[in-house]
Amino acid sequence: MNTDPKTFLRCIDTACGATYPIDQVLFECDRCGNLLDILYDLTGIDASALKQTFLQRKLSRDPRDLSGVWRFRELIPFLPPEARIISLREGNTPLLPSRTSGEYAGLPLIHFKHQGFNPTGSFKDNGMTAGVSQGAALGRKSIACVSTGNTSASLAAYASYGGMQAVIFIPVGHIAAGKLAQSLDYGALTIQVEANFDGTWQVVRNVLEQAGIYLLNSVNPFRIEGQKTIIIEAMEQLDWEPPDWIVLPGGNLGNTSAFGKGLRELFDLGFLSRMPRLAVIQAEGAAPLHRLLRQAASEGKDPAEMCPPVIADPATLASAIKIGAPVSWKKAVRELAATKGVCEIVSEQEIADAKAVIGRSGIGCEPASAASLAGTRKLVASGVIAPDANVVAVLTGNSLKDTDYTLAYHQGELKFTSGQRTQPIEPRMANQPVVVPPDSAQILTLLRKSLH
Ligand code: F0G
Repeated sequence: MNTDPKTFLRCIDTACGATYPIDQVLFECDRCGNLLDILYDLTGIDASALKQTFLQRKLSRDPRDLSGVWRFRELIPFLPPEARIISLREGNTPLLPSRTSGEYAGLPLIHFKHQGFNPTGSFKDNGMTAGVSQGAALGRKSIACVSTGNTSASLAAYASYGGMQAVIFIPVGHIAAGKLAQSLDYGALTIQVEANFDGTWQVVRNVLEQAGIYLLNSVNPFRIEGQKTIIIEAMEQLDWEPPDWIVLPGGNLGNTSAFGKGLRELFDLGFLSRMPRLAVIQAEGAAPLHRLLRQAASEGKDPAEMCPPVIADPATLASAIKIGAPVSWKKAVRELAATKGVCEIVSEQEIADAKAVIGRSGIGCEPASAASLAGTRKLVASGVIAPDANVVAVLTGNSLKDTDYTLAYHQGELKFTSGQRTQPIEPRMANQPVVVPPDSAQILTLLRKSLH
């Protein structure tokens, strides 16, 4: 266990500022109920020397250096050097330039930081290696989460790989089949609760500690530390030249919290000469943060002082971000303020079209991830993002996570139901399969007609 008193948990509410030792299993401040940050004394860090160390580690075979999370360990120093690290070689995800997708958004080019290249196919693996390794350091044998599918797939893999028991709670009927299949395959005790994500969280949240199970939702600040490395790695890939904007989808808002904390620390330590701006994109039917910020602006209030945002019945086909009561909303508000960030909403049609464009660009992603491109397009059209801006859009999950959605879209069968209303999604960029008889002449004719 890390007994360094310079590493500690601190309440995010600056007026409270309560601190706790790092090995105390606590997710909310005992005094005021707010979430906690992990803070370190990072004085003495030499940014230019560390940039070189990070690069040199790419030639190493040390398992920590092969991980795109632990290669940056000086910036997430919560474990002592001798601690066991549970790693599946997460991170190391590409930053892919795309002209096709960039032009769709009204930009010459866009860069996708594709977290779908992770071992379980989503950005959750960056956080999970950190959280599960901390669970192991605490001597925990069972770990759990409530999830819209990706956290649970990731937790299931890392728990089993680390010899721990995974317990996952998922809202029945609200997650993509690929994600459920992963959890079963990785051997997790899989509990489907007859509620949506928020309802499941409500009933499960407080029973876990009583059952001696370590909670690994993004209220767990060690997960956030791991997810910071997504941004660290992206900045390294850009040779530490920050983009103008980083655009990402928002659900429970853990990733927004992680990116903001990572950017602030990189800036304070001298890794970056300026701060990129964050743009968080939510689906129209599941946009509690967007609503909160709009309401705060119209009433001239500080959003952090308002009641937690809640949408009672969130609805979106992008099931990963179908969340009405995001636990990390206050951290997200703080990070948007620190980065002069914005929050935008996109429709189901916009998400579906953007996803098809990302697919056609040869890149592909799951529906929630496509909100990044749809949101970028909207923000360029409204003039918030300049048409010559450098934009990094984060693709949070792999295309194979939700093939039902992709097939339904291309076959013109995708429908979105919200309350009493069902609305068809137009297959504007559909790519239909062609069926032919086993006849060479007919196939040749078809090829001559179809190829350009
Ligand atoms: N994109 C994907 C693919 C996700 O799985 C999630 C969240 C998000 C975006 C939103 O990230 O919650 O940090 O704002 N998935 C969680 C889960 C909630 O349980 O897998 P966030």
